[in-house]
Order: sequence, then C-alpha cells, then structure tokens
Amino acid sequence: MSKTIIISNRLPLQLQIENKTVHATPSVGGLATGMKSVHKDSNGVWIGWTGLTEEEIPANLLDDVIEATIKEQCIPVSLTKEDIDGFYYGFSNRTIWPLFHYFMEFTEFEKESWQSYVTVNEKYAEVVLDNIEEGDTVWVHDYQLMLLPALIKKKRPDVQIGFFLHIPFPSYEVFRTLPWREEILKGLLGSDLIGFHTYDYQRHFLSSVSRILRHEVGFNEITLKDRIVTANSYPMGIDYNKFSKAAAKHDATKNQSELQRRLDIHIDTTPDAKMILSIDRLDYSKGIANRLRAYEYFLEKYPEFKEKVRLVMLAVPSRSNVPQYQLLKKEIDELVGRINGKFSSVSWTPIWYFYRSMPFENLIDLYTTCDIALLTPIRDGMNLVAKEYIATRTDETGVLILSEMAGAAQEMSEALIINPNNFEEIADTLKQAIEMPKAEQIKRNKFLQKRLRRYNVEKWADDFMTALQDTKHKSDIVK
Ligand code: UDP
Ligand code: G6P
Repeated sequence: MSKTIIISNRLPLQLQIENKTVHATPSVGGLATGMKSVHKDSNGVWIGWTGLTEEEIPANLLDDVIEATIKEQCIPVSLTKEDIDGFYYGFSNRTIWPLFHYFMEFTEFEKESWQSYVTVNEKYAEVVLDNIEEGDTVWVHDYQLMLLPALIKKKRPDVQIGFFLHIPFPSYEVFRTLPWREEILKGLLGSDLIGFHTYDYQRHFLSSVSRILRHEVGFNEITLKDRIVTANSYPMGIDYNKFSKAAAKHDATKNQSELQRRLDIHIDTTPDAKMILSIDRLDYSKGIANRLRAYEYFLEKYPEFKEKVRLVMLAVPSRSNVPQYQLLKKEIDELVGRINGKFSSVSWTPIWYFYRSMPFENLIDLYTTCDIALLTPIRDGMNLVAKEYIATRTDETGVLILSEMAGAAQEMSEALIINPNNFEEIADTLKQAIEMPKAEQIKRNKFLQKRLRRYNVEKWADDFMTALQDTKHKSDIVK
C-alpha cells in the first residue's frame, strides 16, 4: 500500500536520556502540534531528528532510541553535534529564520553554516530515498529543509513531492540579500506543489522565482523545462475537536490546575481580576518585549485597571544556544521584574510569568481560564495559539487581541486586530477587550469558531494532498 512520507527537521516527539533510559516528550511549535493530528490517522511515516545528537546516544541505547521513534511511526535522521551547530543553530536559525521574519539586523551570512545546511539536507535525502517505495508521496516541511525537494526529485522523478513553508516568505527585496538565494529557490522547485499560509507569502515567492531565476511565472504556476510547479496558499488549521473537547471536559471536571490552585489559595487576593493570556516560544519574532512594554503603558494610561487585570505569560524555552534568544530571555526577565516591581501591591502582581513548556492539560487550563488572549507577534507565519484559544472557548466568551503581522489575522477578522508596534492602540484595545459586553464576545467568537471548525487541520492536509495529486496531471500534459 502506498504511503505518505512526512519530513520535518523536528519529529513530533523529542527524546532525552535520563538515568540511562530514553524518554520521549511531545515537541513544541505549530508544525509539530498541527502535523501530529494528520500523522496519527495515517499509515505513513515521519522522518526527522529526535533532538539527540549522535554523540549524546550511548551505543547501548541506540536500539532504544530507534524503538521509541518507530513506535510512533517515525524514522530518525542521525545528526552530529557539528551538524546541529552549523545547520540548526547556524543557517536555519541565524540566517533563514531572522531573514524570513524581516529581522535583517540579526541575519548572519556564514559560508560554513551554509555548507552544513547543504550537508544535512543531503543526509535527510539519503534517509528519505532509502524509505521511498513505488507510489509513495513525499511531503517536506519548513525552512530547515528547503534543498530537500530537489535532492529527492533528482533521484526519484516519479515521486510526487509537496513542500509546505510554515514561516513567512519575505518580499523579494529582503530575500534577494541572501547569498544562496538561487540554490534555495532551485531546491524548493524540486517540489510539484509548494504551499504557504497566506497569499502574500505565495506572491513574494513567485516574484523571487521570476526575478532571480527568470522562470515563466503565472498566477500560481511556474513553468520549468519539463514540469510545472504549483505554488498556492493553504492557511493551516488546528485539530478543532481535540481542543474544544478537551476544554469541555476541563470545564466539566474543573481539574485543579496550578493556575486555579494559585487563585484558590489566594496567593493573589484579586481573584476577580481579568486574566490576560500570552503563550509563545521565547522568540524575538513573537513581540514579547513589545507586549510587556505595551502592557506597562496600558497600566500607566488607565490606572483604574490596576489590581483589576493580570497578565499570565507563558514563554516556552526555544533555541537557547542562539545569542539573540539568550539576550531576549535576559530582556524579558528584566522587563517582567521591572513592571512587577513598579506596580505590584501587597495583594496584586500584574504579571505571572512562566518560563517552561506546559503539558496539554495545563495549556487547556490557561486557555479556558483567561478572559483575553493578547498575541502581538512582530512577524509570524500563522500563529496557531490564536486559533487554539478560540477553539477552547466552549461558552463562546473571550476576547482575542491579535497582531496584524500574524498569518492568522487574515482569517480572523472578528478578533481585535492591532499593530504590535503601536502601544497607544494596544492599550486602547486592551481597555476595549476588558469592557467588551459578553453578547459582543459571543457574536465575534461564533464566526471565528465556525471557520475554525470547518477549516480544521484535517481539511488543510486534505486540500494540500488533493492539490498535490492533481499536479501529476499538469506535469503529464507538459510531457
Ligand atoms: N505549545 C506547546 N506547549 C507549550 C506551549 C505551546 O505544545 O508549552 C504549542 C501550542 O499549543 C501551539 C504551538 O506550540 O500549537 C505554537 O504554535 P504557533 O503556531 O503559535 O507558534 P510557533 O511556535 O510554531 O512559532
Ligand atoms: C516553528 C517552526 C518549526 C519549528 C518550531 C519549533 O513552528 O516553523 O519548524 O519546529 O517553530 O522550533 P524548533 O527550533 O525548536 O524546532
């Protein structure tokens, strides 16, 4: 039976070795949480990195590592510490990530890390080619593996290859600064179908292809000598039922979570305060520092809300070997300390700050307990947290404040949309959210929920895979 091979840098499970045994935890991030739902119902395999380098796996635990991945229908790609330094901490996260999120000042162009990116993409290709069988379909994910489609196509022109980019594709003017721009585009064009979260990212990509490679480009097609490549937008959805059911169950059982215990024992004696939630990986693209400054400005502009609001901020550790992430951590720690120091009273702390990842049940608890979600990325491919927050609001109340720079904002116009650089607007919008009547909250969320239910992650994957199968006919016509 033919199968779909999913490939991403990070597998949906991450392995650690503790007390000489192998442990698995779920991976964090939109790609992993979204694709996990697609993968669990398929007969396919998922190829990727386990989170452990070759050097970290003792010979006697190698079989356990393989067994832990195979149990989840996954196949590990073996990477060395050197690979991870150059490919992951280097080219992927010091070149592509900042560049594609318009952080030019953080972007490094290092030849060694580019070479490592090439080497690691080749390592992935080897594992994929070893596992392809007649009739299989290949679906490559994200910015760490942009050379992979062409590497596979070269050896297996018969295989349909899809690629989905989970981050923005920047405008031509930004993309053109990359010294290896041609190689990246040629790598992507090994695909038959290339998917983006929004039409803007698709447009930027097509314009780069046309201007840099001089290929003939139509509305959503690129004509190559022997094939047609399709580029289209497929905004990623969430596993709506999983979130809404978990929220309903949580409401019914009122599981005592860390958050509720803290409210119950009155560490903070303002339990009626409006809870404002923010959840992100600790990443400069997420606008966490801006959000804190805007919240500080809000408390200064509207002092009547002191002791009546509380920001619950979950920042998940991410890429902490990259200097920009270390600096950001320091900045956030200092900002939280300063704001809490400035405004706290004996009975009230304006910010509750958690620097860790949380298990699914605790996330549901945060989503369902907080009255407002404040998500202010400076740039974000999609932002699934925004969608998850709305999906868990079983009684349809709750207010989502969302940055216009998140891909999700294009589908969530009933949310309160803000410019993350405009503190005045964020402060006023927070006031509007706090004071929004329940009837208006419900009216807005009804629309949002309906759309999220309909365009869930399953529909997203189906649409992509159907379009990928259709590309076969297009290429047959060219031949
Ligand atoms: N998430 C998680 N554990 C946490 C916090 C968040 O698994 O402790 C998940 C969250 O549910 C969401 C994903 O991480 O599905 C974040 O995706 P998003 O698209 O918002 O941002 P990304 O991290 O992909 O940039
Ligand atoms: C974003 C990226 C993913 C990545 C995730 C977590 O969602 O699009 O490709 O896996 O962040 O980042 P990490 O570097 O820990 O894999």
